[in-house]
Amino acid sequence: MTLSPHERNLIYGLYHAVHLSRIKGVTAEVTLRSIEQLRTACEPYVKGPGLELRVVRRTLYLNGSPVVQDVENFVFYRHVVDMLRRSWIGILSVTAVPSVTDLQMFLGVVARLSDPNHDPTRSGKLTELLSERGIRSIHVQPPVAGVATLPGERERREAARRTYEDSIAISRELFNGTRMGRSANVKKVKLAVQAIVDGVLNDEASLGGLSALKDFDEYAFTHAVNVCIFCVAIGRRLGLTKAQLYDLGHAALVHDIGMSRIPREILTKGSSLTDDELERMRAHTWLGALSIFELRDFGEIPFQSMIVAYEHHIGPDDSGYPAVVRPRVPSVFSKIVAVAAAFDAATNERSYSKALPADEVLRTFWEDKSLGFDPVIVKALINLLGIYPVGTVVILDTYELALVHAANSDPASVHRPIVRLLSDPDGLWITPPPLIDLAKTNEKGQYERSIIKVTSADRYGIDVSTYFA
Ligand SMILES: [Fe+2]
Repeated sequence: MTLSPHERNLIYGLYHAVHLSRIKGVTAEVTLRSIEQLRTACEPYVKGPGLELRVVRRTLYLNGSPVVQDVENFVFYRHVVDMLRRSWIGILSVTAVPSVTDLQMFLGVVARLSDPNHDPTRSGKLTELLSERGIRSIHVQPPVAGVATLPGERERREAARRTYEDSIAISRELFNGTRMGRSANVKKVKLAVQAIVDGVLNDEASLGGLSALKDFDEYAFTHAVNVCIFCVAIGRRLGLTKAQLYDLGHAALVHDIGMSRIPREILTKGSSLTDDELERMRAHTWLGALSIFELRDFGEIPFQSMIVAYEHHIGPDDSGYPAVVRPRVPSVFSKIVAVAAAFDAATNERSYSKALPADEVLRTFWEDKSLGFDPVIVKALINLLGIYPVGTVVILDTYELALVHAANSDPASVHRPIVRLLSDPDGLWITPPPLIDLAKTNEKGQYERSIIKVTSADRYGIDVSTYFA
């Protein structure tokens, strides 16, 4: 796994700016150029998921995920960690794109404190220095001695699983409540959406992995939560702000709420619906908009969610349903929900249709323009899941069997995910199955392993969910 371009710009940018501030001074032309580059590198984070660098022992975390150390960035990585440690910084967060002057002052202080000849015990309180100088966009906190401030892998997984299960419980309550005509607990729904957005922003891999768990019996509830997770992760890649992600997450969680007002026998009948039944099924769009209107909270009407419920089946040129009177361009949120919902539906087993392999569904979404999906959104979904989504079972050119564990964070290596090796070339199961990065090359620069085909988990008797539990 390698750094994404944004991560690379940020880590390298920070290193260069501190280094040049130290050797050339903060007013030198070359330093000012590096400061401009660092400001540009901060931008996608500040406008998107936020920017928090954290050092726990000798590991650097960016927004909660460990920054990948590889041969290429090893030296810079070590310098940045040393620089933060010597300046007595445990957490560095940036809340707005800093001005050139703010960065000059910050870098000047950090360059002095992190100088290898400087005694770190005499660092003083950087926090106070920053506030004395009136720097509002950059915040620092000292290291927490001896305590791993980030929970470990197991804890992160458990936190993700709790978020997922709690959200499903709330989604179940919401659907059943609406079916019975009970008013829903709006606050609980909002909290569930917030937990999903925070979960995706902090640890996308763990929460995303859970959406690979398919529960046939609870389709409506898991579908709503899966679509919500996919939408938030897509929205994040499209650069939406946190507030927009909350709105999008809410819209995604309730987009099919109208289904709870459709008789069960129609919902489970599948493709052999009569014209009349089809018409009733299609009414879930505007019934959904009405149900959401009833979810209004102290006069605050969730307009975006109502629009998405109404529009998510309207295709290009006003095809799809409900029929529109005037030409209408669905909102971006509706387009995102349409792609995420179609993907989750196609990859889930239903009473009337088998689950399709995720890679096949993604290829169809990308190639079949008649489906009318927005190509930018489909591309974001492909980048998110990789061409081989999490949970796909693949055969490698070494004849080993592997399970896709996570998409590669580098978009250039989208076809080379991180996999768990399940069996050796002779078909013997490997325990415990190791994680392998398919983007790894040998000393001659050749890939050690490549995917040759996707296969089905059933064929090899693999219960995918056990590898994500
Ligand atoms: Fe729908």
